[in-house]
Amino acid sequence: MTSFGRVISVRGSIARLGLLATGQMALSDVRATVGRFVSIRCGATSTIIAMITEVSCENLPTSDIYIATAAVDLLGEILGGPERPKFQRGVTNYPTIGDSVELVTNQDLRTVYAPVGSDQIDVGTLQQDPSVVAYVDVEELLSKHFAILGSTGVGKSTGVSLLLNEILRSRPNLRIFLLDVHNEYGRCFGERALVLNPRNLKLPFWLFNFEEVVDVLFGGRSAGPEELEILAEVIPLAKGIYTQQMNADKVGSKRASARIGYTVDTPVPYRLVDVVALIDERMGKLENRSSRIIYHKLISRIDTVRNDPRYTFMFDNANVGGDTMAEVIGHLFRLPANGRPMTIMQLAGFPAEVVDSVVSVLCRMAFDFGLWSDGVSPLLFVCEEAHRYVSADSKIGFGPTRRAVSRIAKEGRKYGVYLGLVTQRPAELDATIISQCNTLFAMRLANERDQTLLRSAVSDAAANLLSFVPSLGTREALRCRRPRYAFRQLRARALARGHLASRRPQRFCRSRRRAFDGSADAAAVDGPRSRSFFVAEEAVALMGLAPSFCAARLARACLAQML
Ligand SMILES: Nc1ncnc2c1ncn2[C@@H]1O[C@H](COP(=O)(O)OP(=O)(O)O)[C@@H](O)[C@H]1O
Ligand SMILES: [Mg+2]
Repeated sequence: MTSFGRVISVRGSIARLGLLATGQMALSDVRATVGRFVSIRCGATSTIIAMITEVSCENLPTSDIYIATAAVDLLGEILGGPERPKFQRGVTNYPTIGDSVELVTNQDLRTVYAPVGSDQIDVGTLQQDPSVVAYVDVEELLSKHFAILGSTGVGKSTGVSLLLNEILRSRPNLRIFLLDVHNEYGRCFGERALVLNPRNLKLPFWLFNFEEVVDVLFGGRSAGPEELEILAEVIPLAKGIYTQQMNADKVGSKRASARIGYTVDTPVPYRLVDVVALIDERMGKLENRSSRIIYHKLISRIDTVRNDPRYTFMFDNANVGGDTMAEVIGHLFRLPANGRPMTIMQLAGFPAEVVDSVVSVLCRMAFDFGLWSDGVSPLLFVCEEAHRYVSADSKIGFGPTRRAVSRIAKEGRKYGVYLGLVTQRPAELDATIISQCNTLFAMRLANERDQTLLRSAVSDAAANLLSFVPSLGTREALRCRRPRYAFRQLRARALARGHLASRRPQRFCRSRRRAFDGSADAAAVDGPRSRSFFVAEEAVALMGLAPSFCAARLARACLAQML
């Protein structure tokens, strides 16, 4: 027997325990402290599993029996007796005063964390007991969106790499699109991912809607009302001209059909030469010379952007081959997958002024992909640094991106488009978006505002457990799930080289690369590598394993898990 305490009060899902001065186990052996699981025997067939959230020797009951008290959260109970133990969340048989408290056994923990169904991925182990595997239910994780929250350096990106690798393994039909804001994932998924960057991306400008194209042309600054008016008038006409020409070419005649009713936002190809010609034509008709300046400026702005080598990915060959939106979407979102069901979109090399519009286009198209495929080809859209795109302050960030992400959060699951958000500043992320995420992985969060946000996002009972959040170690996470925001504290697996996300200034990365392989050709290698290399060596050294071990075989780091 391992009894070391008694129940002294019960209030809702919280109970207080008296820790015995002379129990069957010495308190020094029990090490009853926050984060530990205990079991409370309630009759012959029910064992309540609880977690210590507070220990104290202040305000002790007057008797000498107890030398300390502890507060515990009641998480659930194991029913069915020793032959057929089964864990269920929530409590039906509440403990009574005097019930005996024991340390949870390994067998109990295994029952609590036994995988339910086959759709489980293994992401690490319980902090409490490294021999118990921490599983995540893929269906639940994906279909109700998830978010990973934690300060810089706590292991979010590495956790993303681990999760996505496991998800890819268990769901070969799922497509994953990852917005890699710091170009740190290039090497995490090997051959399974298509890595896109400004050098190899093809995102024709005509896919941009009106707001996005204006944002690109005016470099993020707001355009004047006249300029907007002119563009809004000529872009649909340019679309009509292009479509007519394509149709005429197809049937081999030059017959001009009636004007086609496109709007500024219809995603069909058009040519900038036509836009410029139409502006020019309008300018020619003007009587007032001074108003021509606006037209002139607009034309030269279009020309400047079109000829800027940094914008090649939008303008080069944008109209070659009569591309359709479906082709572009198919390539971006891997349909057909051709062995690469994942896309890593490296954003760090794009001109800063254009990143917002690019992200907006990609989010919109991710949703359209789901809509058009009617959910037949499910897609997980993962967004790092999400607070930049869907900020709590509606004045920050680019409106169309916010709307596009919100749309996936609200309606995406109907069409098989799922969201994974990653942020180091949860308090700056739009709270309505967080509320759409059913699973939260809360890693260490030092900032008080972030902790407050997290507390407000979960139930009162669960909020108690969040007091752990400021002191979690690297790789440790509390997993919270709705409806009751049940918690699990787990530690991500230690990852081998190549799976660790890594970030460093580009220059540093290049010089290191040269040092490694003697190559001066920066373009030849997409992903940064130096830090992941060193980091992996550290991690591997820590685990005492050879660097050649693959992630799956690496010994697991310990960690705790709660519902
Ligand atoms: N699962 C893991 N296995 C091994 N090392 C890890 C793991 N998670 C994090 N680390 C270590 O922590 C560092 C920071 O992790 P990272 O994922 O970049 O954090 P974040 O994205 O939160 O800033 C890594 O470089 C690595 O040293
Ligand atoms: Mg990161």
